Amino acid sequence: MDLRVVIGKRVLNNPVCVASGTFGYGSEYEKLIDLTNIGAIFTKAVTLNPRPGNEPPRIIETPCGLLNAIGLANVGIQRFLKEKMIFLKSLGCAVIPNVAGSTEHEYKEVVKILESSDSVFGYEINISCPNVKKGALAFGTDPVMVESLTGNLRKITEKPLIVKLTPNVTDISIIAKAAENGGADAVSCINTLIGMVIDIKKRKPVLANGTGGLSGPAIRPIGVAMTYKVSRAVSIPVIGIGGIICAEDALQYLLAGASAIQVGTGTFIDPAIPGKTLDGIKDYCIKEQIECIKDFHKYIK
Ligand SMILES: Cc1cc2nc3c(=O)[nH]c(=O)nc-3n(C[C@H](O)[C@H](O)[C@H](O)COP(=O)(O)O)c2cc1C
Repeated sequence: MDLRVVIGKRVLNNPVCVASGTFGYGSEYEKLIDLTNIGAIFTKAVTLNPRPGNEPPRIIETPCGLLNAIGLANVGIQRFLKEKMIFLKSLGCAVIPNVAGSTEHEYKEVVKILESSDSVFGYEINISCPNVKKGALAFGTDPVMVESLTGNLRKITEKPLIVKLTPNVTDISIIAKAAENGGADAVSCINTLIGMVIDIKKRKPVLANGTGGLSGPAIRPIGVAMTYKVSRAVSIPVIGIGGIICAEDALQYLLAGASAIQVGTGTFIDPAIPGKTLDGIKDYCIKEQIECIKDFHKYIK
């Protein structure tokens, strides 16, 4: 059975990855699960300078989901390279930093600095964080900016460039196409949806940021539909994300047109979900006599 996934000039061993921001820098899960089974770790977003993130409360549970407004809290690129990459590169799986910024210059600087590390498989460009005042989502909702940013990052690296799409737009396929035109090797589909929870006693939003990004099983049908739409609009691989907590969920994404998937909020419920999902995909392939992960694409037109 061929589970490999080609992204740009490189290959992932299997299609089951873990999503940015829900898996820290890998070491948090080291004692809990076998990390070598993971297709790729998409790290917490990294920016040029350290960021404390938003004021608490910055996370709240919702029906079948989670609303977060972390605000890209991270250690900054220098500490990421010196401290976090040391552990990450000792793992047997691909490491894909999630790169964020407030300006095009910041995205470019982060990628340039990361180019010094052989252990970086590629980059996930986060143009879709709904929880920061400057940058991120402003890039991700404007196709002209998406194409320009992707094109300028393309000039810096030959490694896989994966652009992470926001669902908070009218037509996600236009943004996906802009990323492809800029030279992206793949797109990640989707980041969180903007939501709000109000405390009726205090008569104010629960999250200090006001709004947050909704994730978890509540958004799965949206992620599947957007993966279906995007995978028909572009010819580069689509990495499906949103509400995956078991193999059956991942299989929906693969049948919709995804080449790989990421488990995000699911790992908060059970850190073993990525491993169990991979086992379930293998069992399904054996039972259904599917020999190659790419064959999933032929079933739904
Ligand atoms: C607590 C939390 C932090 C996140 N941080 C990031 C981040 O730093 N960069 C990013 O691109 N996505 C981030 N995300 C979005 C996830 O990577 C993923 O796209 C989203 O949660 C949908 O997948 P899920 O329903 O499986 O969680 C975060 C999500 C959560 C719940």
